[in-house]
Amino acid sequence: MDCPVLTSDEKLPEAHKISRFLHSYVTQDIPNTDNYLLLSNDGLSFNSNTKDGRRELRIDFLKGAIGWRLRRPEHEKQLKKAIGKTTERLTIFDGTAGMLADSMIFLSLGHKVIACEQSKIIFLLIRDACKRSEEALPFLKNLKLVHGNSAEIYKSYNKSDLIYLDPLYPDSSKSSKRSGDIELLRKAIDLESIKDMGDEIFHEFRTSEHKKIILKRPIKAPLICNKINYQIKGKSTRFDIYI
Ligand SMILES: C[S@@+](CC[C@H](N)C(=O)[O-])C[C@H]1O[C@@H](n2cnc3c(N)ncnc32)[C@H](O)[C@@H]1O
Repeated sequence: MDCPVLTSDEKLPEAHKISRFLHSYVTQDIPNTDNYLLLSNDGLSFNSNTKDGRRELRIDFLKGAIGWRLRRPEHEKQLKKAIGKTTERLTIFDGTAGMLADSMIFLSLGHKVIACEQSKIIFLLIRDACKRSEEALPFLKNLKLVHGNSAEIYKSYNKSDLIYLDPLYPDSSKSSKRSGDIELLRKAIDLESIKDMGDEIFHEFRTSEHKKIILKRPIKAPLICNKINYQIKGKSTRFDIYI
């Protein structure tokens, strides 16, 4: 893959492991490629040339919007409603891990999570972010992170209490502008030549053994399936619940 790993002497062994996983190579000089991973003392980041210049995707659960949300999980009213009232610790299968924000909320609410991501680059970024915050966020011990196609991986976890799906919304310049991180996530998927299943992933899971599926959708998106049980609506997104 044309995504070298830029690093310094002290991080060389780890950089080599990453490059083997990606089938790329390690470099110690800024590479002349559109995309590269940077492994430094600040962790791992994905660097890419975008229409707005060079941009970086580095995941950090202790800062920014996700850091703020994790400090007040009791305010996650819609996600809590979507999960449903329970005093039990659930096992949640997140089939579209992405930047892991939703899974982190489930963990902070006391649940166990199996999170699955198809992109190697995004998987490496979230694994690195987890390593950097495992001391500060003890609930991370309840997370199992897996790389691969979740529809396949789910076959080993089909006793989960809940399936959570948040597929990428269809690309539009408007939505890309709204979230630069999602733009970089799409770039990683394109670079890896992954054919994103989009909404199709829902149908894969719907036909598998399951207790309950939560599907996150843009508020105005049409229903994917008429056999819906109920919806939890927010301002810009909603959760469609299938039991
Ligand atoms: C919109 S993002 C999810 C964002 C995530 N809910 C969060 O809070 O950060 C969708 C992610 O699902 C991943 N994905 C889509 N289909 C997948 C599949 N079949 N298996 C594993 N990951 C998948 C994509 O690569 C992408 O990273």
